[in-house]
Amino acid sequence: MAPRLTAVLDWLQERLGTREQFTRFLDRRLPVGTTWWHTLGSAALFLILLQTVTGFFLAFYYVPSPEHAYDSLTYIQNEIPFGRFVRGLHYWGASFVVVVVFLHLLRVFVMGAYKYPREMSWIVGVAIFLVVMLFGFTGYLLPWDQKAYWATVVGTHIAGTAPVIGEYLWRILQGGVEVGARTLGRFYAAHVLILPAILYGLILVHLSMVIYQGIAPTPRGPLARIRKEDYTRLYEESKGRGETFFEHLLRDAVVAFVLVAALVLVSATATVPMEEVADPTDTQYVPRPEWYFFFLFELLWRFPGEWIPVATFWIPLAAVLLLFLLPFYDRTTGRHPLRRPVASGAGAGALALIAVLTYQGATAPLPPREGAAMPQEATALPPALAKGAAVYEAQGCSACHVLKGTGTAAGPDLTRVGARRDEPWLKRFIKNPSAVQPRSAMPPYGDLAEDELDALGKYLASLR
Ligand code: HEC
Repeated sequence: MAPRLTAVLDWLQERLGTREQFTRFLDRRLPVGTTWWHTLGSAALFLILLQTVTGFFLAFYYVPSPEHAYDSLTYIQNEIPFGRFVRGLHYWGASFVVVVVFLHLLRVFVMGAYKYPREMSWIVGVAIFLVVMLFGFTGYLLPWDQKAYWATVVGTHIAGTAPVIGEYLWRILQGGVEVGARTLGRFYAAHVLILPAILYGLILVHLSMVIYQGIAPTPRGPLARIRKEDYTRLYEESKGRGETFFEHLLRDAVVAFVLVAALVLVSATATVPMEEVADPTDTQYVPRPEWYFFFLFELLWRFPGEWIPVATFWIPLAAVLLLFLLPFYDRTTGRHPLRRPVASGAGAGALALIAVLTYQGATAPLPPREGAAMPQEATALPPALAKGAAVYEAQGCSACHVLKGTGTAAGPDLTRVGARRDEPWLKRFIKNPSAVQPRSAMPPYGDLAEDELDALGKYLASLR
């Protein structure tokens, strides 16, 4: 080596211990049975880094305020060189990240790589997956178009249905009684500051554990079965016969290249969907979430009325806990999927369910649909709501509103008003509409008795 280069390397060696770092991280041996499936983790990391870089560029021009968000994005798309392309990369890249992170999780599940001694890597990995989903949720609002706005109204509403903490969660997320400037500020801060900090922290922990434990190979041969006594010995032996990290890195590079090529292709050809600017008074709009939330959305329609928290809180909570705790209740020693039929069966079942719900969510006609979302129609109203229904009747609201098919459509259809408005908002609005929406065409009902207003608000809020 050229003497000068050697001098530089020596200088670095004295300060950083570069030689040891090099052998430890890069020139290490991997066990036998490292496959193409093992590239998904690094592919996910690569895509996340790409999201960060394209995010930087978008942040140069994006303005997180209801007045300017939409225009600033239109500006990025139409005026900034490559703006449309970079936004495309970020937009489609998000779906790539979700898919690849999910596939990585699936790979680890199928290969039983969450078992001893990698339980902690699994837990941190699941946390990373959830954070990635939160990126999707917070990023969805930022364009401030109709779809963004109304999906977030539903999203924060869903958070609000959680028992006990729901109310607080909802307030924290929205920053007020409505999705507005403060909501946008909060979602933006979460999307560009809070979530990245958490994500990169988790990734750092995840990676250091992966390096410390080493890759879990395909469950074949001696390492297909976990025996704590001789695990370390067998793993070291396997490493003696395996390839080096550099050989694997080549595979990583190929996969990353293919992914980037695909992403570039999509971003250069497909246009990012952008609807009209958000209009909080447009109550006819029926929101739809990003495709990877379809299954949750679809689940929601299965549980009407007071059962809603089952879909919005209890099932997701149970699913997340089951996922987190998997290494602790799946105590089988076999790593091959056929050697742990219960876990594999449950996993396949969950996967099928998510696939079916996603498909239904993608193809279903927009809600409200007959039956599903309108439980009150079939059953008699519970007394708590009956009073509100009577007030609605007595005040002649149906002169201007359609509710479950009856009334005149001078104002918005109220059949599912509870899905977009909550009780405090409804009460404020009915009392004095123009205080909430300055150009409101609806007459004020300020002279309603307090208990009548309460009942009416409760009733309308229950309509979902
Ligand atoms: C004279 C017609 C008229 C009458 C009567 C009327 N409304 Fe309205 N209402 C409207 C119009 C128009 C809107 C659309 C928003 C606006 O202009 O403020 C509206 C909006 C609403 C909204 C907001 C819907 C949303 O999702 O933003 C609610 C809730 C509502 N009305 C409830 C009622 C109730 C309850 C009554 C009876 C006490 C009633 N309205 C009587 C015309 C009317």
